[in-house]
Amino acid sequence: MSGVKTLSEFIIERQDDFPFASGELTRLLNDIVIASKIVNREVNKAGLADILGATTQENIQGEIQQKLDVYADDQFIAALRNGGEACGIASEENDDFLAFESLRSREGKYILSFDPLDGSSNIDVNVSIGTIFSIYRRESEVGTLAKEADFLQKGENQVAAGYVIYGSSTMLVYTTGKGVNGFTLDPSIGEFCLSHPNMMIPKNGTIYSMNEGNMSYCSDAIKNYIAYCKEVDTETKRPYSARYIGSMVADFHRNMIKGGIFIYPETTKAVNGKLRLQYECNPMAFIMEQAGGIAHTGTQRIMEIQPTELHQRVPTIMGSSNMVEKLLSYY
Ligand code: AHG
Ligand code: MN
Ligand code: MN
Repeated sequence: MSGVKTLSEFIIERQDDFPFASGELTRLLNDIVIASKIVNREVNKAGLADILGATTQENIQGEIQQKLDVYADDQFIAALRNGGEACGIASEENDDFLAFESLRSREGKYILSFDPLDGSSNIDVNVSIGTIFSIYRRESEVGTLAKEADFLQKGENQVAAGYVIYGSSTMLVYTTGKGVNGFTLDPSIGEFCLSHPNMMIPKNGTIYSMNEGNMSYCSDAIKNYIAYCKEVDTETKRPYSARYIGSMVADFHRNMIKGGIFIYPETTKAVNGKLRLQYECNPMAFIMEQAGGIAHTGTQRIMEIQPTELHQRVPTIMGSSNMVEKLLSYY
């Protein structure tokens, strides 16, 4: 196809980035792409479910219409289980990780952690939502069942991470540690096409994204930084603009392109913040650092944290390097 590079072509082309790769990571990424297209189809018709009567029909068959985040969870699990390149999967929607039992999956070298639908409270109001994923090489022996330790690796060990944003258009953005590339879904041909090569976040920005409703529960560092954002200073283009969607993927994506800072800090009510280390913060931190930005908790680089439990939460600060450094100076 002249002038257009599809995601599948790009992934195969980049396979050589991994000297010892035998195509498994390529196939795993392709499984993720297929699942995300299926989820995209359902997200796009979310409001139609009742009108089309699908719920009633399915109930007659004994299958209750599932919530979209459970649907997305099922799609990704099915794609990876059938693909055979991953030996297990962990997701926000399941209490525990899932070890795939087939002989082929036990031979799989990788595990996947993911948030099937991020920002799902926004589904009902037609606001952008996303999917976040993170891939690690397993630590347990190939040929055995996946173990918890495979899912409790530091973010630094990620071999790939990405997100899909179901927005005014659908995009998939990912990294394998060699920069960040973004692909936009062309619905007419059903393919993600390279639209944002070598994405880099601007060093400076004028947008801050935080749920300021929580401000009374925040530390002085956060209070002082947000006060700084609101001060008037023409040289540093302040006051900054506040932009908060409430879908991390969408807030992150906007800031990646325009420059900005996303903050979900610790509060007196939630001492570790809200966002989950393994399937929200680490994958976004990997992308953010690969794009030249910073991902931090306020006291530690996110990807250096040794996870101790699957659904662990961490305070989250991500964005343009100069903005994050300024905030860190208040700690
Ligand atoms: P999820 O829908 O996967 O549970 O994630 C929602 C997260 C994240 O997307 C967003 O940044 C944050 O929750 C919003 O939280 P508040 O409503 O507390 O601001
Ligand atoms: Mn989420
Ligand atoms: Mn979610």
